[in-house]
Amino acid sequence: MQEGRAITFTSNLPNTFMASEEDSAILEILGGQRLSGHVAISGAKNSALVLMAGALLCPQECRLRNVPSLVDVGRMGEILMALGVKLERQGDCLTLNASSIGESRAPYELVSQLRASFFVIGPLLARLGVARVPLPGGCAIGARPVDLHVRGLQAMGAEVQIDHGMVNAYVRGASKRLKGAKIYLDYPSVGATETLMMAATLADGETIIENAAQEPEVADLANFCRAMGAKIRGAGTNTITISGVPSLHSTDYSIIPDRVEAGTFLVAGAITYSELSLSPVIPDHLTAVIAKLQAVGAQVITEAPNRLRLIPSDRNRATDIETLPYPGFPTDMQAQFMALLALSEGNSVITETVFENRLRHVAELNRMGANIRLKGCNAIIRGVPMLSGAPVVATDLRASAALVLAGLAANGKTTIQGLHHLDRGYEQLEAKLQKLGARLQRVKGSSDAGNNSALET
Ligand code: EPZ
Repeated sequence: MQEGRAITFTSNLPNTFMASEEDSAILEILGGQRLSGHVAISGAKNSALVLMAGALLCPQECRLRNVPSLVDVGRMGEILMALGVKLERQGDCLTLNASSIGESRAPYELVSQLRASFFVIGPLLARLGVARVPLPGGCAIGARPVDLHVRGLQAMGAEVQIDHGMVNAYVRGASKRLKGAKIYLDYPSVGATETLMMAATLADGETIIENAAQEPEVADLANFCRAMGAKIRGAGTNTITISGVPSLHSTDYSIIPDRVEAGTFLVAGAITYSELSLSPVIPDHLTAVIAKLQAVGAQVITEAPNRLRLIPSDRNRATDIETLPYPGFPTDMQAQFMALLALSEGNSVITETVFENRLRHVAELNRMGANIRLKGCNAIIRGVPMLSGAPVVATDLRASAALVLAGLAANGKTTIQGLHHLDRGYEQLEAKLQKLGARLQRVKGSSDAGNNSALET
């Protein structure tokens, strides 16, 4: 592959995606519109971010395809460039050249905007034997500690000190090479599994990760690393074995479709009682979500190996949900399902077991007329016949998706602030929904935005 030109990565993203946090844009949605048609699903955000970090493991040029155009992807690109990686984006194809990474310090001002940037610590330690990465802060959904990442790296021979918010890590010994180790994760953390799997690809000896996360994005990362020559077995199960190799080589790899985006659109069909299809998708990645949509009364049909069709029920009914590590019901679909169950007949209970603060969308849904009561990590939902459009504020990425779904089904106009959350994780969500017939638009400004709206109720 020809050497990629080192260009400013973020210039490739539409300015909407690079809107600053204070962006006062508002999403206006006119509810009650049936949807129809087909929606194209983008590459998985939670694969793209970790595979970009994984490219640091390779001293040659790598190519990633099906990379979604998201704010978080743009930010990860900036962090990699700060570390010396050359990046070039053409459409959904990203070329990364980490042949000359010299800097082992990830800049705080960038890391503080993207927790996933902590993923660089494993590859930097594996490649350079040293890494200085700011401790990622918490976020709206929880404290998001990284103790499992750190303890695993220490088990592999890294010295790790944390002071003044910086994680300083280096590999002891002349070889500067991590050593294989047997690691048991107290919790099947996705990030810790990914960090340790990447670090182990170049370690001296065999690493076994027990109680590993089984999410599809972990398997996607393993397949990417194997395509670069890594020796990894068991990814996608709770025990992953990695035999270290001296170095990795170029590859051209396509990222899996985003199962959370796909699930979000399936819920969009169910909540608006609309029939719609979507592709590409890997149905096996959505088993728990499909099971719960069927419990609510919808049908989900596999039309082709990578294509699903949602056929709505006549009247959605209640069901209970408990979020769990994969293959359990995904926490990333919890908020979206809460919007659906808010309008389903009967009483439902949602128990959020993965993150300690991921129920903040309850208050905003209640502003729209939902009847949801919080009791610890449980949301007690009494289904109501109708939601009313209202001004609401998004608190985090998946909560913003839930508010969009509620707005699509609500009676009247909903305006949503805090769109920077949405832009982090959904590629062209408005355009995709408009193509399905939804009536929504993004308007600039704040106070008088609603006055000149084309979406009159
Ligand atoms: C990944 O986050 C995803 N993010 C999250 O998606 C997803 O919700 C989460 O996995 C669970 O599936 C990316 O892949 C970029 P965890 P991660 O480590 O790796 C605790 C979205 O909306 N924990 O599995 O941070 C932690 O506090 C985002 O797309 C420790 O205690 O998730 C949490 O309670 C949100 N110590 C639980 O484990 C650690 O060292 C699960 O976290 C690490 C985690």
